Amino acid sequence: MCGIVSYIGHRKAVPVLIEGLEKLEYRGYDSAGIATVLDGRIWCEKAVGRISVVAGRVEGKNIPSAVGIGHIRWATHGRPSDINSHPHTDCSGRFAVAHNGIIENFAELKAELQEKGHEFKSQTDTEVLPHLLEELYQGDLVGAVRQAVARLEGSYALAILSSEEPDKIVAVRKDSPLVVGLGQGENFLASDVTAILEYTRDVYILENGDMAVITADGVQLTDREGLPIQREIFHVEWDPVRAEKGGYDHFMLKEIHEQPRALCDTMAGRLKTDHVELAEVSISPETIKALPKIFIVACGTSYHAGMVGKYVIEKLARIPVEVDFASEFRYRDPMLKPEDLVIVISQSGETADTMAALREAKRVGSRILAITNVVGSSVAREADDIIYTWAGPEISVASTKAYTTQVLSLVMLALYFGQVRGTINHEEAEELFTALRLLPEQVETILEQATAIKTIADKIAQNEHVFFIGRSIDHGAALEGALKLKEISYLHAEAYAAGELKHGPLALITNGVPVIALATQDDVYDKMLSNIQEVKAREGYVIAVANEGNEDVANFADEVFYIPRTVKAASAILTVIPLQFLAYYVSLARGCDVDKPRNLAKSVTVE
Ligand code: M6R
Repeated sequence: MCGIVSYIGHRKAVPVLIEGLEKLEYRGYDSAGIATVLDGRIWCEKAVGRISVVAGRVEGKNIPSAVGIGHIRWATHGRPSDINSHPHTDCSGRFAVAHNGIIENFAELKAELQEKGHEFKSQTDTEVLPHLLEELYQGDLVGAVRQAVARLEGSYALAILSSEEPDKIVAVRKDSPLVVGLGQGENFLASDVTAILEYTRDVYILENGDMAVITADGVQLTDREGLPIQREIFHVEWDPVRAEKGGYDHFMLKEIHEQPRALCDTMAGRLKTDHVELAEVSISPETIKALPKIFIVACGTSYHAGMVGKYVIEKLARIPVEVDFASEFRYRDPMLKPEDLVIVISQSGETADTMAALREAKRVGSRILAITNVVGSSVAREADDIIYTWAGPEISVASTKAYTTQVLSLVMLALYFGQVRGTINHEEAEELFTALRLLPEQVETILEQATAIKTIADKIAQNEHVFFIGRSIDHGAALEGALKLKEISYLHAEAYAAGELKHGPLALITNGVPVIALATQDDVYDKMLSNIQEVKAREGYVIAVANEGNEDVANFADEVFYIPRTVKAASAILTVIPLQFLAYYVSLARGCDVDKPRNLAKSVTVE
């Protein structure tokens, strides 16, 4: 997730861009950059680090240009560096592009352009675009953009500036947000309204496939073919703080809602028609076939993703997996061998316990595969192979979109290993591919039912204890649901493998104690029903999460929340969404600080 700001009008563009980018820093702060047209040429200033670095460099330069594009980067392709910062330019220095999203087919476009003599400066996917424009431009910027965009696969919000036609900025949107701000004799472009609220509250919210040509005096909206389109002007009422959260009250709520997009991005370019491609994993097929054992190490939510990963990898790839708390790993003298694979999961990539476990595994000589959300993080730098979760910056301390994209990454890895090892057949693989592609849409349908969860949350918010139970993969999701609830609502929450209830925890179930029963696994559904009945017999208050179409469970539970049906391997991704909402609304009802819970930090860099 990156941020874009652009300006054209009667003011000096540079201060408008810098101030706008400062407001978008929540979208990323790996690097920043601006581009304008000066003396008939594109002029850029960009640097690794926060926008303040660029601001410091341009201070006092008093650049007169009244047009410019700016970008704040959350690194995806290419580590954070000056050269990988946006905007990117072509060989001739006439075209500058700021991009938010992922160009999935950049490798083939890059190879094609290199063959034609284009010299690339960065490792980014974005740089193909200015070179494509250089190739296609014949005196018509809008036409060249239209042709270039037709060649792109993936997601993009684009701001394009050319010294050939400095009277306009061209914008295109597909699957990444972009708004056009409307002023008097000036117009704006931004990833979200926060960046431009100071100047205007009237915006067009671009939709997928929209192109906008923005000049000082007007905005022309068209579709990809150049046919004019109409969009309603949206008048923004939000205050600046709320606008930063995309209109949501909290970052956590915003991040819950970002999950369909995060899942799409994490799959992008990896789920091919009938196989998985993991560009930054270079373990040879021979090594994969011979893998004796996998260790997964992580903390907190990432550990819970690892628990689900164990089920999925063992099931699909038939490799034994051990999951360890990173904080315990090196103190238990693990029976780790150089030929074992260690999967390290960390959203931040900076968790001290996880880093220590990674280094212990390296000392033994094992290969390290990192699943992380932050390009260039310590975990990413020290690992041999990486799967990045493209969740975008996660601001709320409570992890949401990081978890679902971690689980998705593990499922894709298991599928990849399973196909290489021949442990899943063609039909099973097909079923999984179809199910994974459907996930973003299915998550959307759960998001639409948030108010139903709020009603349940309000009923249980004043209880002292809440229990979560589930079997098989549902047990992993139950652990994550309980962690979410306790960390942001300070309500005592525990998760158990449902079959364990009768071995102790059942003693805690008395009249009205809420028990969240995850009952989405067909193969253990009958067993789960027995566990629900054990709770009901002690007068517990059962809230079941079940698959759509399961009418039976309503006969036993007090409340049922239905989720769309998916395959076993992907089920934790859907099951956890109502649990995230539950934690959020209970936290609200108890008056807690949702995004910054007491005693906790987003990244725990001490042991
Ligand atoms: O950045 P990491 O994934 O390494 O962080 C691990 C935990 O600190 C983190 O998941 C924590 O448990 C979250 N606050 C849970 O929501």
